[in-house]
Amino acid sequence: MKLGPNARFSTICLHAGQEPDPATGAIITPIYQTSTYVQEALGRHKGYEYARTQNPTRAALEGNLAAIESGKAAFAFASGMAAINAITSMLKSGDHVVVSDNVYGGTFRLFDKVLSHYDLSFSYIDTADLAATDRAFTPATRMLFVETPSNPIMRLTDLAGAATLAHRHGARLVVDNTFASPVIQRPLELGADMVVHSTTKYLNGHSDSVGGAVIATRDEDIEWLRFVQNAAGAILSPFDSWLVLRGTKTLPLRMAEHSANGLALATFLASHSKVKLVHYPGLPSHPQHDLAVRQMRGFGGMLSFDLGSLEAARRVLNGVRLMALAESLGGVETLISHPATMTHASVPADRRAALGITDGLVRISAGIENIEDLRDDLSQALDKV
Ligand SMILES: Cc1ncc(COP(=O)(O)O)c(C=O)c1O
Repeated sequence: MKLGPNARFSTICLHAGQEPDPATGAIITPIYQTSTYVQEALGRHKGYEYARTQNPTRAALEGNLAAIESGKAAFAFASGMAAINAITSMLKSGDHVVVSDNVYGGTFRLFDKVLSHYDLSFSYIDTADLAATDRAFTPATRMLFVETPSNPIMRLTDLAGAATLAHRHGARLVVDNTFASPVIQRPLELGADMVVHSTTKYLNGHSDSVGGAVIATRDEDIEWLRFVQNAAGAILSPFDSWLVLRGTKTLPLRMAEHSANGLALATFLASHSKVKLVHYPGLPSHPQHDLAVRQMRGFGGMLSFDLGSLEAARRVLNGVRLMALAESLGGVETLISHPATMTHASVPADRRAALGITDGLVRISAGIENIEDLRDDLSQALDKV
């Protein structure tokens, strides 16, 4: 089983990082559920000494993710937040970071409530506006941290433009690619230096694992990430590594369905009389639709829509039967949520208002169910408004 140098994306997703198990020939990489490895003699071993440092199941996943994101190396962590924390461990006291203003609420919380204790500073900017982003850089800026599409308003950042900008200032561009997945966009190919994922979402794809990953291209970043993964120790477990590795085998198939259902639901909602506004980059009415067409291959399964009031949102959220009212996203089943009180509850109300996260906003992570069933469910829930 050898991947040719010109292997296509879906073949890479299926095979990269994996060889039949050398001990048995098992086609699927086993779950190496061990904490240590027996050494043949003092100083003689098979490259594995202790399982925080090296684990074959995790190594297979890391090889797979590096290939899928067009990076040089990947590192798997215990959660998306642990992965983001590992990246920020590259910063030193006094450094400054420019951040997309509507990043995931947990990312904002880490920066605002934890890392601010260490003499690091963060400026939250609408990175869709590259001129404003440029103005936010200071001589101390080391990193531009971008999420595109952003959660839950689906604002886009021009990644090629952001990479040029960051590099002009001698800073790294880090992209949280959780929402899009590497099927839809590959930031490293557009000039980004590091990509981060919550593998909890599309990469695993089955709502049964929490994990994260960083994919990097620069040797010095790779060296640091390898060091800090072991030194701080927030590693992904063998079983979770195995689950994500199984998930990426079907990633292109799943993303095609997520994208088709996302577009169909956005189109349905855009013409519904009870809906005030739909946020989905695949709709021609999206203010950055041209950029979406340029930068993304398909538009993904995430969308949000505004019903004008908390009461209307409550009726829809309580009225759905097939869609599950739950946080998270990227699983095969459709989830519906209320950002203001769920995913973004940790964002202060005035910031939420400035970002357009109104009390009437509802977010959907479109799953891969039959689209007629999803439309029927949403339609009967909207009838209750
Ligand atoms: C865009 C994004 N990044 C990072 C995270 C954090 O990932 P995790 O929950 O795996 O720690 C999330 C979680 O929802 C997310 O949506």
